Amino acid sequence: MKFLVTGAAGLIGSNLALELQKHGKVIALDDLSAGKRQNLARFRGDFMRADIRTANYPKFLKECDAIFHEAAITDTTVTDKHLMFSVNVDAFKRLLIYAKSIGCRKIVYASSAATYGKGKVPMKETDRPAPANIYGESKVRMEQAAKAFVKENPGFSVIGLRYFNVYGPGETHKKKAASMIYQLYLQMAAGKHPRIFKWGEQYRDFIYVKDVVGANLKTLKYKNSGIFNVGTGVPGTFNRVIEVLNKAMRKDLRPEYFDNPYGFYQERTQADMSSSRAELKFVPQYNVEKGIRDYVSILNPKICIRKSRK
Ligand SMILES: NC(=O)c1ccc[n+]([C@@H]2O[C@H](COP(=O)([O-])OP(=O)(O)OC[C@H]3O[C@@H](n4cnc5c(N)ncnc54)[C@H](O)[C@@H]3O)[C@@H](O)[C@H]2O)c1
Repeated sequence: MKFLVTGAAGLIGSNLALELQKHGKVIALDDLSAGKRQNLARFRGDFMRADIRTANYPKFLKECDAIFHEAAITDTTVTDKHLMFSVNVDAFKRLLIYAKSIGCRKIVYASSAATYGKGKVPMKETDRPAPANIYGESKVRMEQAAKAFVKENPGFSVIGLRYFNVYGPGETHKKKAASMIYQLYLQMAAGKHPRIFKWGEQYRDFIYVKDVVGANLKTLKYKNSGIFNVGTGVPGTFNRVIEVLNKAMRKDLRPEYFDNPYGFYQERTQADMSSSRAELKFVPQYNVEKGIRDYVSILNPKICIRKSRK
């Protein structure tokens, strides 16, 4: 099989490219504006450094089985709408045209729970989009572009995956846009009390990157087009995350609470997973405890070695 992965040096793209290479030939594309080559240290396929807004996509991908589109501006605090839309929306439309030109009939693209904004929970794909920032708006526009493309090209399977709060190996480059789980881990690894907004009971549907890769693989067997949530359906509070991190890191650091300065803050996210489960057959394998344990053992293998010797 042959695949193209965009945003392949990023958190999700790199984990996906590394898994896909077990199933065939992979072309990894990234402009390295945010992601890092070292995320692809174990990657054996071809790497193409290019900007999706201008890339000369390779014609040799004619027998491409699927394009996985992860490249995007992922920092939700970016306020330059023109930039956000040119990278996230216009470049995606360009990619769809390319897919059509080479006859690649499966395109899987990264959408986001940001399309729901501060909507009710659990969040269902049929809910009216209510993005709270231009990043979320750009994802809604991508979904609209995908729908319009499928309407004109009914033989194509174009699938949008609305990722919830992804965490896992390969996110160090994201700095302040990295997952809260990673940020809290760093504070605690430095021996500091983890800092969270009062009173830590806000919750997120945290999804481990290995499950996100699993959801992408499920799309290969799905013949239709659609939009699917990729979460666990079981959210965790920030207090709970700290509890689990303490256990996994063998620490006992109590949270330090402070006032939340953001009016647009999403208090909670939780995916309704019924459609993903029924149609994509996607069932996450990592709850927040198992995911954090696995992640900590990768971030700090010494903890894992000490534990296994006991
Ligand atoms: N991580 C999450 O929690 C989350 C949640 C919802 C949706 N998503 C979406 O999933 C996708 C992947 O996110 P991620 O967490 O891996 O982010 P990331 O920032 O780690 O990866 C994005 C990659 O895209 C690349 N990129 C950016 N602009 C580019 C351009 N113009 N041309 C080529 N490459 C470009 C970056 O260098 C980076 O490697 C994104 O579309 C993001 O919006 C992520």
